[in-house]
Amino acid sequence: MIRAEQNELMTRIGPGTPAGKLLRNYWQPVALTEELKGPRPVKAVRLLGEDLVLFKEKDRYGLLERHCAHRGADLAYGRLEDGGLRCSFHGWLYDAGGKCLETPAEPAGSRLCEHIRLRAYPVTERSGILFAYLGAGEAPAFPRFDCFVAPDEYTFAFKGYWDCNWLQALEVGIDPAHASWLHRFFEDENPAASYGRQFRGTPADSQMPISKVLREHDRPEIRVERTDYGMRLQTLRRISDAHTHIRVTNILFPQAFVIPMNAEMTISQWHVPVDDTGCYWYSIFTSFGGPVDKDAMRSQRLRTYPAPHYRPIHNRADGWGFSADEQRSATFTGMGFDINIHDQWACESQGRIQDRTRENLGTTDKGIVLYRRLLLDAIRKNESGETPLMVLDADKAGMLTGPPAIDGIGPTGHMEEYWKESDAKRRKQSQWAASSLTA
Ligand code: FES
Ligand SMILES: [Fe+2]
Repeated sequence: MIRAEQNELMTRIGPGTPAGKLLRNYWQPVALTEELKGPRPVKAVRLLGEDLVLFKEKDRYGLLERHCAHRGADLAYGRLEDGGLRCSFHGWLYDAGGKCLETPAEPAGSRLCEHIRLRAYPVTERSGILFAYLGAGEAPAFPRFDCFVAPDEYTFAFKGYWDCNWLQALEVGIDPAHASWLHRFFEDENPAASYGRQFRGTPADSQMPISKVLREHDRPEIRVERTDYGMRLQTLRRISDAHTHIRVTNILFPQAFVIPMNAEMTISQWHVPVDDTGCYWYSIFTSFGGPVDKDAMRSQRLRTYPAPHYRPIHNRADGWGFSADEQRSATFTGMGFDINIHDQWACESQGRIQDRTRENLGTTDKGIVLYRRLLLDAIRKNESGETPLMVLDADKAGMLTGPPAIDGIGPTGHMEEYWKESDAKRRKQSQWAASSLTA
C-alpha cells in the first residue's frame, strides 16, 4: 500500500523536492537533436519544473534559465548572434555557458557584464537526443548501452507529450500483463506488412503473430529481479508443453525502460518530467538488423504526434478518440489500432497524478512494486548523502552494456538459456553489436 506521503515523495520533481533532487543526478533528455536543426536553433523548454532556453551556437549547445538577468524578459525570443543569445529587450548577450558578454546600452567602458551569469546546464548529444544535466558538480558518465553505442544509421529517436505525471507513464512499461488486454487485437495482420509496429510482428524463432500470442495467453507468469542497471522482467506465456513465449524487458534506473519492439529492434524509452503533471517520452529505436529508415519512422509518428510540440492528436479533450461503436464492433479499446494511444489513455486517464493510495495491486504488478522500492530507496540514499543507483563514474559506466531485450518463442523449461542465447545470437549477427556482448 502506498501512503499519501510516499505518493507525493515519488511524484513531485520540482527543484528542492527529494525526487527532483534524485532525478537531477542523471542526464535527462531535453529535446530531439532535430528540434535544433532549423534556421533558428533556439527553443523554449521546460524540464523538471524549470523554464529554460535551449540553443545552438556554432557547434555548442547552451541551456540557460529562461529569464534575462537584466529585467527578466524571455530569452526564448532572443536573437542568436555574435557568439551567443542576445536578449531582445536591451540587447544583453549571453554565451552557451551563461556568461554575460555584453550589456550594450550601458555607458562605454561599463564592467557590469563581468558580474552577470545565468544558470547554465551542460548538454550533450546521444543517438538523436540532446541530454542535459541539471545537477550539481560533475555530470555522470554515459553507460555503454546499445542505444548509445549503436551507429547513427541503426537508431532513430522520437518523442511525445503525455498529460500526466512521469511515474505513471513509466509504470505502464513495467506492467507486462496489460499487453494482452489494452493492446488486444481481434485479428492478426500480416506481420510482413506491419513492420515497425509493436505487437504486430512475429517473435523471434516463430511464425506466430505476437498479437495472437498475447490474445490467447492472457495470464502471463512474470518474474522480476534487480540488476546493476535497475531491474529486469521476464514475462512468460506458455503456449504448449513444447513452446513458451518470453519477453525480456528492463528498467534503466531511474526513468527508462528497454523493451523489444520486434525480433530485430528494441526501444529504449525515457519518461521525463516537464513538471509534476506532464511529461515527454523520448524513445531511441535501436536496430540489430539493417539500418533504420528514419524518414519513414518519423513521418509515421508525426501523424499522431505533430511537431513542433509533439503533443498527441487525441487527448483528454476528445476522450482519446473513443468510439462506442468501434468498441462494440472492431477494437478492444474503441480507440483505434495505434498502441501508443492505448498507453496514453491508460496513463492519462489515471488522473494527472495518480492517487496511488486508492489502488489495489495484484500479482501482475510485481514489477511496479519492485520499481517503487528502488525509487524510494534511491531517494532515501540521495537525501542522506550516499550515492544512489546508477550515478556512475567512468569505470562503472564503461562496464554497463546491453541490456538484452528479447521477444521470442523457445523451448518450455529452458527459457533462461533460450533468451540468453537469443540475445547472443542477435548480437553476433549484427553489424555493430558483436563487440558489445553482455556477460
Ligand atoms: S531584460 Fe534582457 S536585456 Fe534587458
Ligand atoms: Fe502498452
